[in-house]
Amino acid sequence: MRKFDTVLVTGGCGFIGTNFIKYIFDKTNYKIINIDALTYAGNIKNLIDIENKDRYFFERVNICDAKKVNSIFEKYKPDCIVHFAAESHVDRSIFGPKNFIDTNIIGTFTLLEAARNLWKDNSDGKLFHHISTDEVYGSLSDTGYFYETTAYDPRSPYSASKASSDHIVKAYYHTYNLPVTISNCSNNYGPYQFPEKLIPLMISNIIEEKDLPVYGDGKNIRDWIFVEDHNNAVFDIIHNGRVGETYNIGGENEITNIDMVNILCEKLAYKMNKDKDYYKKLIKFVKDRAGHDRRYAINCDKIKKELGWQRQYDFNTAIDITIDWYLNNKEWVYDVKSGEYQKWIELNYSSK
Ligand SMILES: NC(=O)c1ccc[n+]([C@@H]2O[C@H](COP(=O)([O-])OP(=O)(O)OC[C@H]3O[C@@H](n4cnc5c(N)ncnc54)[C@H](O)[C@@H]3O)[C@@H](O)[C@H]2O)c1
Repeated sequence: MRKFDTVLVTGGCGFIGTNFIKYIFDKTNYKIINIDALTYAGNIKNLIDIENKDRYFFERVNICDAKKVNSIFEKYKPDCIVHFAAESHVDRSIFGPKNFIDTNIIGTFTLLEAARNLWKDNSDGKLFHHISTDEVYGSLSDTGYFYETTAYDPRSPYSASKASSDHIVKAYYHTYNLPVTISNCSNNYGPYQFPEKLIPLMISNIIEEKDLPVYGDGKNIRDWIFVEDHNNAVFDIIHNGRVGETYNIGGENEITNIDMVNILCEKLAYKMNKDKDYYKKLIKFVKDRAGHDRRYAINCDKIKKELGWQRQYDFNTAIDITIDWYLNNKEWVYDVKSGEYQKWIELNYSSK
């Protein structure tokens, strides 16, 4: 089992990165460095509980800025990098792909170069872990699964940029012997997810009794995993994963979008003392997303067999935890949706 002194997390103010930092901070005594550009998706207030701890450090850095990235690597000398930072929303990639190409491809390349330079004399026990998505594999019909060996077939600018970064990470392993691992995970849900993604968007719109827009016929299938299960898989990989390997992570929990929206409507109706179908009248089918992948489903036997990973949460429990988090954190939702948070960031962090 590998052990580290200093773990550098990129994108630690985003949804999964925030949850990961909280998780690894609790589970270890590692020094944790969080580098994040604080885009619209990054919220520094998520980590207020640990911001003053002496083994946590935050640096506002754009991962495409090689000079700054190199100086941060020199300053902290991390022995593990867990790379979450990305532009992550498929719809935004359709309307404006450039940021996706910059951050997801150039940003990953910049980090790989910085790691290669930092570890050039000795890379024993070091690790660069790259977080990726099942969307790189393309779309499935009604049957079949994505395996680690499935050929890449990305369809959106988002998934194409992630596929590209995965290939570059693998190339650094084969060409320069950089110690890397990669994980490709299915759709996450849980606390701190920006309310433009399906589950938090629907929860926050239900709370506000706004329309619930569902793409196309609503029959697109996603394999949903609770964010903590994703993160404990990443934790297992960085400690015990084989260098050079890819691991699929999935929730083994396929649900159509329309079923998910109905479940959320019913669960919130129960929590708000309304009739079971009260919120379903808000559902509005809208024009389908361009190139909308029909079905994703992950086979995650490899990580189970090799690393003994098993997801800890069943869907029913974890979706309740998620809904309750949004009900208890309406101010967080208001802040990020209204732009109030961005104003606060520019006032407090523009020169940092
Ligand atoms: N959300 C999912 O369901 C899911 C599923 C599988 C894989 N992933 C992958 O997990 C990772 C995290 O996803 P997420 O949902 O937490 O994303 P997110 O959009 O919530 O967070 C991304 C974070 O990266 C930061 N960031 C963006 N551009 C940056 C840049 N140029 N420099 C530095 N920081 C930058 C943002 O400020 C934000 O804090 C991504 O790599 C994504 O591809 C996500």
